[in-house]
Amino acid sequence: MRPISIHFEYKRYDSYTELPQETQHLLLAARDAMHRAYAPYSQFHVGAAIVLDNGTVVEGNNQENAAYPSGLCAERVAIFSVGANFPNHPIKAIAITASSASYMSGEPVTPCGACRQSMLEYELKQDSPIEVFLLSPSDEVIVIPSVSQLLPLHFDAKNLRNS
Ligand code: THU
Repeated sequence: MRPISIHFEYKRYDSYTELPQETQHLLLAARDAMHRAYAPYSQFHVGAAIVLDNGTVVEGNNQENAAYPSGLCAERVAIFSVGANFPNHPIKAIAITASSASYMSGEPVTPCGACRQSMLEYELKQDSPIEVFLLSPSDEVIVIPSVSQLLPLHFDAKNLRNS
């Protein structure tokens, strides 16, 4: 038996204004997208904004459905939009934010497991890290250097190969 530990380090800022201007823009784009979320069932509004290597920003927000599982999280709306429209442009970063009148803890919302797996797919495809910024309603920010850190011991394409 060998115990193995995984080290994970991230940064926390009291305010997004401490971050560079272009990151601030990305965070505010995510907040903008959040306000356009279609979340009539949960009232939990989530926004995501992705910046590509050429500076293009692609936004997404959660889209719900009366048949509940048919909806999709903000992160996947955004990243699938990048996959569909800008397949050859590496992603530099994704900003995510959420708000809800009924059950907001005040903490930045962290992406669900399915979104982590979906974002990881594109990080592995482009072979360079996607930085993750999580913005709280009170403007605090968590910065995670890459999606893979959010999904240790993940499943990916190499598990599907025969050799
Ligand atoms: N949601 C997201 O958009 N992203 C997350 O990371 C967590 C959850 C959405 C899905 C659903 O529309 C609502 O938030 C409540 O779960």
